[in-house]
Amino acid sequence: MTAKEMETAAPEWLQSVRWNGTRLDLLDQRLLPEEIVYLPLDTVQDVWEAIRELKVRGAPAIGISAAYGVYLGIADAPGGAAELLAEVRRHADYLATSRPTAVNLFWALDRMKASAEQLAAEGAEPGRFKSALLAEAQRIQAEDEETNRLIGEHALALFQDGMGVLTHCNAGGLATARYGTALAPMYLAQERGMKLKVFADETRPVLQGARLTAFELQQAGVDVTLICDNMAGYVMSKGWVQAVIVGTDRVAANGDVANKIGTYSVAVLAKAHGIPFYVACPLSTIDLETPSGADIPIEERHEDEITQGFGKRTAPKGIKVFNPAFDVTPSEYVTAIITEKGAVRAPYEENLRKLFE
Ligand code: MRU
Repeated sequence: MTAKEMETAAPEWLQSVRWNGTRLDLLDQRLLPEEIVYLPLDTVQDVWEAIRELKVRGAPAIGISAAYGVYLGIADAPGGAAELLAEVRRHADYLATSRPTAVNLFWALDRMKASAEQLAAEGAEPGRFKSALLAEAQRIQAEDEETNRLIGEHALALFQDGMGVLTHCNAGGLATARYGTALAPMYLAQERGMKLKVFADETRPVLQGARLTAFELQQAGVDVTLICDNMAGYVMSKGWVQAVIVGTDRVAANGDVANKIGTYSVAVLAKAHGIPFYVACPLSTIDLETPSGADIPIEERHEDEITQGFGKRTAPKGIKVFNPAFDVTPSEYVTAIITEKGAVRAPYEENLRKLFE
């Protein structure tokens, strides 16, 4: 279906990850906003590749897809509980190599492994073992939807009618089971007739802001204006932005936040203009094992994303390129981290820990 055809079909929302009974149907996010194509995935390799190539992206959606990937890996495997547990571990280790920064990937894989360990300890027969693992992946997806609604409620409590809100990258429904994290308050505001004016940074080099955020908010009827990344400062200087809200791939124990490259610049600009900078995420994105932002692995991607993104060469052949996919915003720039349990403020070291007590 093309985006044009979709306008007439007018679905209420686009689900990025769908379990269809026997396989995983993933919305190919590389093709948006031009085409709506679901990729049928049957194997753990298919899922690994989809994550690596950004067919599915966004921290929670990566975790959910990987959980289904583990199940696909054992769906037709022979053997009893001990063999199936070994297979789950093997597939989880493999999927963990698909992308390094979003901790939700490792969190979801750990949940699948813990579930398999429990089933093996109980000596579950193969049928029950497999169906319980599928149920765990489905639970991870269902919980994410509920979590995001709560994040939206807590975030919306910080916003007022008529406010200008700037966001970077895509932390919307497409990046999660539904609603998104940073975009959840915008959907709730829309449901309640509250007007927010959203500015979406286009988000070089892969344009998640232009292709995904602008697309999904426009589909939902939210007032959204697309800007290039280098326009954020000007828009703030005009007084059009009263809050910034972004998602994150990993929050370190000290409150440093890794998110899409460019987020750090936006945070510095927000501070310079006295604008609150909010980060929205589920508890599964908070990684107390990682002490600070300096310890978060930052993915570097292929130079073609910068020199010939979307097939058109825009830089000389042979040019040196640096293409980190994420950056780290130090916690001193973060006004609050908004989770399903409410908004957490500094001192982060202490207050993030309290969330898990
Ligand atoms: O490279 P991507 O598109 O996976 O990066 C996504 C982001 O940086 C999102 O802001 C983050 O994963 C949060 S999604 C709720």
